[in-house]
Amino acid sequence: MEIKRIMVIGAGFMGSGIAQVMAAAGYDVVLMDVADGFVRKGMAAIEKNLAGGVAKGKLAEADKTATLGRIIATTELARAKDCDLVIEAIIENKQAKMDLYRQLEEICPPHVLFASNTSSIPITELATATKRPDRFAGMHFFSPVPVMKLVEIIRGLKTADATVQAIKEITDRIGKVGVFVKDGPGFLVNRVNAALRNEVYNCLAEGVATIEDIDKALKFGLGHPMGPFELGDFVGLEIGLAVAETLWDNFKDPKWRPALSLRKLVASGDLGRKTGKGWYDYTSGEKKPRTDINL
Ligand SMILES: NC(=O)c1ccc[n+]([C@@H]2O[C@H](COP(=O)([O-])OP(=O)(O)OC[C@H]3O[C@@H](n4cnc5c(N)ncnc54)[C@H](O)[C@@H]3O)[C@@H](O)[C@H]2O)c1
Repeated sequence: MEIKRIMVIGAGFMGSGIAQVMAAAGYDVVLMDVADGFVRKGMAAIEKNLAGGVAKGKLAEADKTATLGRIIATTELARAKDCDLVIEAIIENKQAKMDLYRQLEEICPPHVLFASNTSSIPITELATATKRPDRFAGMHFFSPVPVMKLVEIIRGLKTADATVQAIKEITDRIGKVGVFVKDGPGFLVNRVNAALRNEVYNCLAEGVATIEDIDKALKFGLGHPMGPFELGDFVGLEIGLAVAETLWDNFKDPKWRPALSLRKLVASGDLGRKTGKGWYDYTSGEKKPRTDINL
């Protein structure tokens, strides 16, 4: 199955990164979002990233130009019909994703592969919005996409071997490390990470240590590049909560109960770096402890 042209749907934090790495590896990419502003923001992020590579001497100017030249930005979903693979990276909302897949099923010829970058929603369920569960898989990237090496290749209940193989070949071509994971809530990495995070929230609620000291402890004691609170703010707290809710809804086990502190922060609209405040306050341009909330 030869994959030449890839549509990436959702030009946000993840979608723009996925479009960049695909184009850098030589694929023709169509980057789609619902409005011009989102598409422009995604393209600007890619340009900035590539320019950073040039400034550091890691990338030739000509390669930057060629990579950008391989990406078409659009708001037209119908362009999916000319692509061999569609990678969906829209908001972490099951209904929104299912609606999108229903539309894609109408637009795309039967041979087109569908892959979701969902953080936690079972692939088997998403695939039911289509008539091609055999050609549907999870392709789960980690942020920031151009930097993080891992891709979880998730096999839904009905995903065919040929689909898994095609996704693995793409993963290899873009220089990432692929691991095969069976479908399940949170897949592998987010499930393990959610368990760790829940214990961290318990420690915070019990007053074992402060947010800053918990972050320092896991960075300098366990060698994590970012502490759990810093990472949560970086990824977006609504995504962390969506993962926690998925684990809770599916396992029905108290150990997966989402932390009240996380739920309250998301409800207040503080989602991390992107909104200026999350576990920390970034409004001054620097990361500072918060003094304005009662967790
Ligand atoms: N942020 C992370 O670290 C991370 C890591 C792995 C996976 N993910 C997953 O990737 C997906 C995207 O996350 P993100 O952080 O890039 O979010 P984001 O909010 O930065 O971007 C989402 C984009 O999707 C667009 N969108 C929404 N509905 C759409 C539709 N129907 N059609 C086209 N575009 C639509 C939005 O306009 C937005 O630009 C989610 O499923 C998330 O769980 C995120």
